Amino acid sequence: ARVVVLLSGTGSLCAALLDAGRPSFTVVAVGADREAPGLAGPRERGLPTFVLRLGDHPDRAAWDAALADAVAAHEPDWVVCAGFMKLLGPAVLARFGGRLVNTHPALLPAFPGAHAVRDALAAGVTTTGATVHLVDAGLDTGPVLAQTPVPVLPGDDEARLHDRIKTVERALLVDTITTLTSSRSGTP
Ligand code: GRF
Repeated sequence: ARVVVLLSGTGSLCAALLDAGRPSFTVVAVGADREAPGLAGPRERGLPTFVLRLGDHPDRAAWDAALADAVAAHEPDWVVCAGFMKLLGPAVLARFGGRLVNTHPALLPAFPGAHAVRDALAAGVTTTGATVHLVDAGLDTGPVLAQTPVPVLPGDDEARLHDRIKTVERALLVDTITTLTSSRSGTP
C-alpha cells in the first residue's frame, strides 16, 4: 500500500512511520504547506517531497485543488496528516475522503484545534491523550479510529506534556496505519 504524509512541523510523526518501515506500506511523498523542517527526514531517505505554499496560489480553493492533484500523482491508498496544520478543503476531501487520517494530541472530542496540549493544561485535566481519526470537513471531528490516554503530571508545561503525548502518538499512528494498510487488498 502507498501512503502520502502531509506535515507542517518537525515531522517526528512522519519519521516514526518511516522508522517503522513496515513492509506493508511505504511513505512515497511528503507535502507541506511551507518549507517544514520535517521534510529533511524523508528527503534524506530519497523520498519525493513537495511543498505547496498557500501564498503561491491565488486563493485557498486553488491551493486545495493543487494539493489534491499533487497527492493524487502518488496514487496513495492512504493520506496521513502528521502535524499538518491546515484544514483540508473540499477538493482533497472529495478525492480522498474515507482514506484521510489525522493524528491529534488530545482525546477527541476534547480539545480540538491547533492548541490541544495548551488547552488541556489550562483546563486542569489529569488525563489527556492522543487520537487518530478519519478526516471529515470539520476541525478534528471525523470518526475516531484509535485513542490512548496520557497522564498530565504535576509541573508539566506544554512542551513536556506534548513530548509525552507524541511518544504515545507515534506508536498509535504506526499501529493504526499498519492495521489500515494490511487490512486493505490495496496496491501491493
Ligand atoms: C503532533 O502532536 C500532531 O498531532 C500535532 O502537532 C504535532 C506534530 O509533531 N498537530 P511533528 O511535527 O510530527 O513533530
